Amino acid sequence: MTHPAISVPTLIAHRGYSAAAPENTLAAVRAAHQAGATWVELDVQLLKDDTPVIWHDGDVRRCSDGRGELANLTWQQAQQLNVGSWFGDRFAGEKMASLEAMLALLNELEMGVNLEIKVNKGRDPIRLVDVVLPAVLTALPPERLVISSFDPVALAHCRHHAPKEALALGALFGSVPKNWREQCEAVEAFSIHPHWPRLKQTQAAAMCRDGYQILCYTANDPSAFDSRWAWGIASAITDEPAAFKRYLDNRQR
Ligand code: G3P
Ligand code: MG
Repeated sequence: MTHPAISVPTLIAHRGYSAAAPENTLAAVRAAHQAGATWVELDVQLLKDDTPVIWHDGDVRRCSDGRGELANLTWQQAQQLNVGSWFGDRFAGEKMASLEAMLALLNELEMGVNLEIKVNKGRDPIRLVDVVLPAVLTALPPERLVISSFDPVALAHCRHHAPKEALALGALFGSVPKNWREQCEAVEAFSIHPHWPRLKQTQAAAMCRDGYQILCYTANDPSAFDSRWAWGIASAITDEPAAFKRYLDNRQR
């Protein structure tokens, strides 16, 4: 059995176009689309009442006008938060996005998504996957979806939900561990998502030889990243999709 026929994009807008709009919001995904990105990376977590929402941190302090742990909020409470003003006044009306609303927008824009299962400290990866996976697999075709996580339990549980041909999985690594191959094989990974400054060329070569797509995070300076394309890197996950696109378009001329 093979993986889904994903045409891996050169650029993936990290948390949406997070240099231009508040991260992980509907506005950030619209901005990414307008900038010419065809895929976005987004983080998903659960609220207290198990509503899946698009959010990165374990708390709401940095990206809203509220305080406290995300997992202590109900959907109703989360909707009271202003999640845009911290980024800029023109985003004052932005609300926290539910996974459901985000999936609808991705379908409307026909965008692909690298959805990161974000298991923050003390959170249960199994419950998170059990809620998120059925919703995502119903909403999106396998060609427009890569699910990734730093958490091996979450990835294994995703694989339990769906076979290799129905769901592409990506293993996220800060520093690539010695047993990366074993970890990837255990979940039949489609892709490897390393922190790009820590990835070694020899590791990239071995990953390519083994048939993995390499999606590097978070690359924001296209000229600093430039030498990495020759290593066989498939995608740059970037806060700056417009700058990256401009740079690559010029380079190809
Ligand atoms: O998925 C790539 C990247 O988003 C992983 O780190 O902390 O930005 O979610 P983080
Ligand atoms: Mg992420």
